[in-house]
Amino acid sequence: MTNSDNTNAISDRDIEIREVGLDELPVISRMNWTLFNERRIINRFDRADLMMLVAYADGDPVGFKVGYGKADGVYYSAKGGTVPLVRRRGIARILLDEMIDRAIKLGYQRFAFDTFPSLHVGMTLMAIDAGFVINGVDYSESMNAYRFRFIRDLVPPEDEASY
Ligand SMILES: CC(C)(COP(=O)(O)OP(=O)(O)OC[C@H]1O[C@@H](n2cnc3c(N)ncnc32)[C@H](O)[C@@H]1OP(=O)(O)O)[C@@H](O)C(=O)NCCC(=O)NCCS
Repeated sequence: MTNSDNTNAISDRDIEIREVGLDELPVISRMNWTLFNERRIINRFDRADLMMLVAYADGDPVGFKVGYGKADGVYYSAKGGTVPLVRRRGIARILLDEMIDRAIKLGYQRFAFDTFPSLHVGMTLMAIDAGFVINGVDYSESMNAYRFRFIRDLVPPEDEASY
């Protein structure tokens, strides 16, 4: 961080979201390793409407979100997170909102992601706070945990205004 001697000084104004291409995968790879301790980001990148967003705070990458289109008008957020030093400053929510806005513009009707409530409590609480509902639960042997599928209808801005 360049604008402060204290990471608590990060505000929404300091955060910039950039959509990046495959040439910038190393930036995401480094954060992915820090957050998940694994080399795999997602299984495949040859996906419909692949979207890779990176959050920068004063030029430093501090979070990411990778998503792609699925069948039946669903846009799926496959992976993401915020580096530990700058958590609870709204960065994951900004990334989520940005991906949702872009998915609406791409014409998707619903937005979904999977998470493991026992492993990723913050993501689970953010899902509920952001209006997602659970529409599936299964058990992952490899993670030794239950996986929840969260989903939300996407409301185009003109419809939202009339609420
Ligand atoms: C979950 C994660 C992405 C949240 O990132 P973040 O930038 O700190 O999240 P935000 O500051 O945008 O929080 C948005 C909301 O999510 C919820 N939330 C996030 N982290 C939380 C936590 N640790 N405890 C409780 N609620 C939390 C809150 O509702 C929060 O809003 P609030 O701060 O106004 O209460 C981050 O903790 C992370 O990267 N965790 C490890 C990887 C991970 O879980 N990835 C998701 C896998 S599906």
